[in-house]
Amino acid sequence: MKPVLVVDQLVKRFGALVATDHVSLEIQPGEIHALIGPNGAGKSTLIHLLSGTMQNDGGSIHLNGHDVTHASAHQRVEAGLSRSYQITNIFKNMSVLENLLLAVQAHAGSSFRFWAPRQHDVSLLHAAQALAEQCSVDESLWGQSAGTLPHGEQRKIEFALALAANPSVLLLDEPMAGMGPDETLRLTEMIESMRGRMTMVLVEHDMEAVFRLADRISVLVYGRMIATGTPEQIRANPDVRQAYLGEAT
Ligand SMILES: Nc1ncnc2c1ncn2[C@@H]1O[C@H](COP(=O)(O)OP(=O)(O)O)[C@@H](O)[C@H]1O
Ligand SMILES: [Mg+2]
Repeated sequence: MKPVLVVDQLVKRFGALVATDHVSLEIQPGEIHALIGPNGAGKSTLIHLLSGTMQNDGGSIHLNGHDVTHASAHQRVEAGLSRSYQITNIFKNMSVLENLLLAVQAHAGSSFRFWAPRQHDVSLLHAAQALAEQCSVDESLWGQSAGTLPHGEQRKIEFALALAANPSVLLLDEPMAGMGPDETLRLTEMIESMRGRMTMVLVEHDMEAVFRLADRISVLVYGRMIATGTPEQIRANPDVRQAYLGEAT
């Protein structure tokens, strides 16, 4: 299978600090690829470089065979590389469904252009409902103001907003951050329910979630990728144990 995303020798410097040190990575279609590493390892920086919210100093990024290394964040979303943002992206006074409708509408573009207005609205509504269902947002919540929902539910909506762009690859930077154990479990189950249908790069601290969700794991330490492999390979890797897992357990 051809990889969806190919990162080759990517470099990012902050002054003398090399936050991303010649990182290479290939993401296969349909895989959940977790990115782990100690604090300050460069995980968020890599996500910023992939989403285009930071410019790299060297190397290249190809999405579906296209060079997006110098594309803007917006162009990357159009090309299929989407990032799930923090819940500040949600319109808190609007209902869940209204939020999703707006997102669907924003990305519908030409695919809805030929519908008559009424059918147009109905098909947008169906798309928004399908998104809510896909992200396990209970129907009883669809009419509620998004801002009144618990943190975990808002995270699901944030996730759904990112999915509205119909991305080839979804980038997630610590989606479980700030969540309690129950909410973490529910979000983990939601992500798991999408396995095989979505390609994701997931940065996450919660190792239980990582080892449950990831098809493959890459380990960053001081900006360098020290290992990539299946969860079993990563668990057994002596370098990883020494640099990271050993310290965490
Ligand atoms: N905008 C920035 N300016 C300067 N240094 C930064 C900036 N962003 C991150 N860094 C530094 O780059 C390194 C990697 O940070 P980060 O990518 O946030 O790590 P992680 O997400 O793995 O915890 C850290 O040493 C951090 O202090
Ligand atoms: Mg980070």
